[in-house]
This record gives sequence, C-alpha cells and structure tokens, in this order.
Amino acid sequence: MKAIQFQPGASLDQPNAALEVELPTPTAEGHDILVKIEAVGMNPVDTKVRPGADGEPKTLGFDAAGTVAAIGDAVTLFKVGDSVYYAGDITRPGSNADFQLVDERIAGIRPKSLDADASAALPLTSLTAWESLFDRLHIDPEADNAGQSILIIGGAGGVGSMGIQLAKLAGLTVIATASRDESAAWCKELGADHVVNHRESIPNQLKAIDIPQVNYIANFNNTENYWNIMGEVIAPQGRIVLIVEQVGTLDIGGPYKLKSVSVSWELMFTRSLFKTSDIAQQHAILTRIAELIDTGKIKCTANEAMAPLNVENIIKAHTLLESGKSIGKLTIKR
Ligand SMILES: NC(=O)c1ccc[n+]([C@@H]2O[C@H](COP(=O)([O-])OP(=O)(O)OC[C@H]3O[C@@H](n4cnc5c(N)ncnc54)[C@H](OP(=O)(O)O)[C@@H]3O)[C@@H](O)[C@H]2O)c1
Repeated sequence: MKAIQFQPGASLDQPNAALEVELPTPTAEGHDILVKIEAVGMNPVDTKVRPGADGEPKTLGFDAAGTVAAIGDAVTLFKVGDSVYYAGDITRPGSNADFQLVDERIAGIRPKSLDADASAALPLTSLTAWESLFDRLHIDPEADNAGQSILIIGGAGGVGSMGIQLAKLAGLTVIATASRDESAAWCKELGADHVVNHRESIPNQLKAIDIPQVNYIANFNNTENYWNIMGEVIAPQGRIVLIVEQVGTLDIGGPYKLKSVSVSWELMFTRSLFKTSDIAQQHAILTRIAELIDTGKIKCTANEAMAPLNVENIIKAHTLLESGKSIGKLTIKR
C-alpha cells in the first residue's frame, strides 16, 4: 500500500520533507479492524508529532473515515463493508495511507447523513470536546444546566467548534472567544450566546455582558497565557479543563486555592494509550456524535476540503495548521 511519511528533522519548506512510500498492507488481528481510508481530517497534533532529527520516518494522520476491509478474530462491533470513522491511536501508524489498523473500541459507524470527507472532520475534536465537558468538567448532559455558564477559549478552532455545540446542547450559557470577524461569526453560527475577543481584556468583556465569573472554563488554546485570567474569571468552586501542554510550571495557589477550583487535563489519547478499562467509551461517544449529526442536533464542523491525499496537500495542510488560523476543520479526500 502507499503511505505518506514525514522524514526525520525535515522542515516543511524542505524538498522531500514528506515522501510517498510503498509499505506492506497490515493484517487485522484481535480487536483491530483494517480500514480502507477514504478521507482524513487534519489536526494540530499532526504538526506536533512530526519526527525530530533523531526520529524515524512516520506515517502521520489521526482522524479518518473509510470502509472496513478486514477484521481481527476478537472484533464484535463491526463487519467487513461498514463505513467507519475514528481518531486513532498516537502510538500507531496513522491514516495518511491507503489502509490503517485501528482498535474497534475507539471507532464508530460514521454519520449516515455525511460523506466520508465530512465525517473525517469529526472524530478527534468531538472526542476531545465530549470528554472535556462531560468526563473532565463533569457537566451532566441530561441535567438542567440553565443558569450555568462556560467560557470556551479558542471557540472557532476544531475543538471549540464542537465544544460550543455540545455545551449548548447541555443547556449552558456559552461564551466563546474569537479574535477575527470571520471566527466570531463562526462561533455565533454554532450557537455561542456571546463572543469575546481573546486579544482584548477577557475580564472586562465578561463584566460588560454581566457574566463577570463563569462556572466552567474549557481552555482549548494556550494554557499559560490564560492562567491568571482563568484564575480571575472562574467562579468559586468552578471547574477548568486544559488540553494544551504548558511550557513552564503553573502556580495552582492564589485564586485557584481560595476559590477551591478543580483543574483537569484532557488528553483524547489517554484511553487508547493506557488501554483503560473504559476504552470502548470512545466507541460509544462516536456512536452518539453520529446520532446527533444525523438528527440535526449538531452540525458538522468541516470548513475546508482538499483532494487528493498526496504529499503536496499534506504539506499545505500542515502549513495552514501551524498558522493557528484554522476555522472549523480541514479534510483531505483520498
Ligand atoms: N489534549 C487533547 O486531547 C487535544 C485534542 C485536540 C487538540 N488539542 C490541542 O488543542 C489546541 C487546539 O486544537 P484545535 O484543533 O481546536 O486547533 P485549531 O483548529 O488549529 O485552532 C485554530 C483556532 O485557534 C484560535 N486561536 C489562535 N490563537 C489564539 C489565542 N491566542 N487564544 C485563543 N484562541 C486562539 C483561532 O481563533 P481566532 O482566529 O479567532 O484567533 C483559530 O480559529 C491545539 O494546540 C491542539 O494540539 C489537544
């Protein structure tokens, strides 16, 4: 099969930074399904795990949609021919290839109302947003959350776009951050009640909309830049979720202690990395996301599509992601 691999230490502007190579098609065993890739979704993690100078060539790509071509002997959730989508596993070869193995317990049947291309936009950001809100912030999606507020930092990004919609579905008042007219309009379109600009004073803008403190914060962007601001605007006994690795150390004292704030990390890869006993929860979340899409309760966040899946488009996609200016999701059809 063909695969696109990044070369160790190569920067994006170097010729041969990524190459199309021929690799053996893998065999499905145990809980694995072998998927014929039809489309991939792009994520900042692709750029973060490009190999360093001492690394090995890597087949990257996390989000994918495709068709089950073969199944391992322990597979119970899928059969050959099923249309699936998934975000993959950070320890295994990725989706920038003709075929990929994935554990059935982290895959789902993709939405019936979407093609493969649009479906590939969903898994990684949906899983991250879902786990952030419902597993880490412990928001009960079935409860009456009216009157509870959430600040979503980085509202127009891939994760924020799904976070806004899931928080609205749970009945929260959603304040999203965006810094450009087009990203602010995107957040509003997805249901944000208010949009504040993260390049201006967030505390002042929250006071201006009469929500000086929020019950929850989902920080889907830079952790340390917003650390003091989050300490200021979180309500007493509020909860904060972080998804972006910090560079320095964080002082958990000060307002965080005075207000008894709970801070959680969310890593979408934790369940597959540690094969946690609830790993199949990701299958359940992707099944629920497909239902929410098919019943029109949430919208697909695909916003830009490329084709075909080749070296040139992969390099273009990595360059766009590194600009930090993506709105919604970028997909590439094979
Ligand atoms: N822990 C996990 O499991 C996990 C999962 C997924 C993603 N992540 C990480 O989370 C981050 C976001 O991922 P993503 O897919 O949502 O990224 P993305 O789609 O590339 O995010 C782009 C958005 O970031 C916003 N942005 C740029 N600078 C900002 C700033 N200083 N403050 C707030 N927002 C800013 C931009 O909004 P404006 O144009 O309005 O400025 C843009 O719309 C990445 O670092 C990614 O690696 C972690």
